[in-house]
Amino acid sequence: MAVEKRDIDWGSLGFAYRPTDYSYVCNYKDGAWEEGGLTTDHTLTLSECAGIFHYCQEVFEGLKAYTTEDGRIVCFRPDLNASRMADSARRIVMPPFPEDKFIEAVKMVVKANEAWVPPFGSGATLYVRPFMVATGNVIGVAPADEYQFRILVTPVGPYYKGGVKPVALQVPEYDRAAPHGTGAIKAGLNYAMSLYPSVLAHEGGFADNMFLDPQTHTYVEESGGANFLFVDKEGTLVVPQSATNSILPSITRRSLVQVAQDMLGMTVVERPVKFAEVEAGDFVECGMCGTAAVISPVGKVVNGDEEIVFASGMEEVGPVMKKLRETLTGIQSGEIAGPEGWVVEIA
Ligand SMILES: Cc1ncc(COP(=O)(O)O)c(C=O)c1O
Repeated sequence: MAVEKRDIDWGSLGFAYRPTDYSYVCNYKDGAWEEGGLTTDHTLTLSECAGIFHYCQEVFEGLKAYTTEDGRIVCFRPDLNASRMADSARRIVMPPFPEDKFIEAVKMVVKANEAWVPPFGSGATLYVRPFMVATGNVIGVAPADEYQFRILVTPVGPYYKGGVKPVALQVPEYDRAAPHGTGAIKAGLNYAMSLYPSVLAHEGGFADNMFLDPQTHTYVEESGGANFLFVDKEGTLVVPQSATNSILPSITRRSLVQVAQDMLGMTVVERPVKFAEVEAGDFVECGMCGTAAVISPVGKVVNGDEEIVFASGMEEVGPVMKKLRETLTGIQSGEIAGPEGWVVEIA
């Protein structure tokens, strides 16, 4: 039987936190994960010496649960969030949360909060934020021996209000990651590093930054919260690769590459992309892709005094980005049949 939805004006929700009924919690102690389960307590009380406060052992994920046209509650490729979170954890010496348990936990907490999953067509979704912190005491620099894995869920509106308009980016003076550092994992420490350039970009009237590779500042890497996609004059989808392992492997980007190749018959090339190619006008379209925005078209990039406007411009979404966006959102909503296992049913 369908659960009665909360009395919320779903259409006017912004991208902000609002506590729901349940979170999921599971502790790691004496070398093992406990059973774990739901909680109505949305707070954590930790020792002042907990590892998270001193050496920043924290990793997280982000995915969405939403209602399909025929009323099912689903999420998109949670197995990839589970495996990316395990990779993130290993890189900063945290015990990986078991991947099958991760998927079960996502299902459990979304189902328990069914009344908070926005209805189909509202433009809103239930944002699911799994995360893990070091709770054990640490004073000398070392990994902790106790951890907590949690999932909070919160209903959110669209990331960009008022439709999908091209945005302007700047090339920042700062890096978001170190060469061969932690840029390829989803750890809070990377986001701390990107906050200052992000605030500067917003102050300058830009939607985000186009970060270049931290070693040579000649290759395009990613933005503060999304990967890049380019389309060249031949219509090839060009996807930047990092020579310094500092781009987060976006699930949306990996899905779009497969959609472009297998469903739209496009040629896709994944390779390092020189910023000089962007300057030379080699690309006719550019987009940022991620869970929050799906694809956000980029109209122009500003690098100091130089302004580079893509052929698609600041008014229109380019045809390739539009097609990719429509196909992916169609698969996510169940209107287009996608690859097996991408859309996972929760209730
Ligand atoms: C730095 C960064 N890059 C890329 C992405 C996009 O990744 P995904 O498509 O898995 O959401 C995100 C958001 O999660 C991000 O924070």
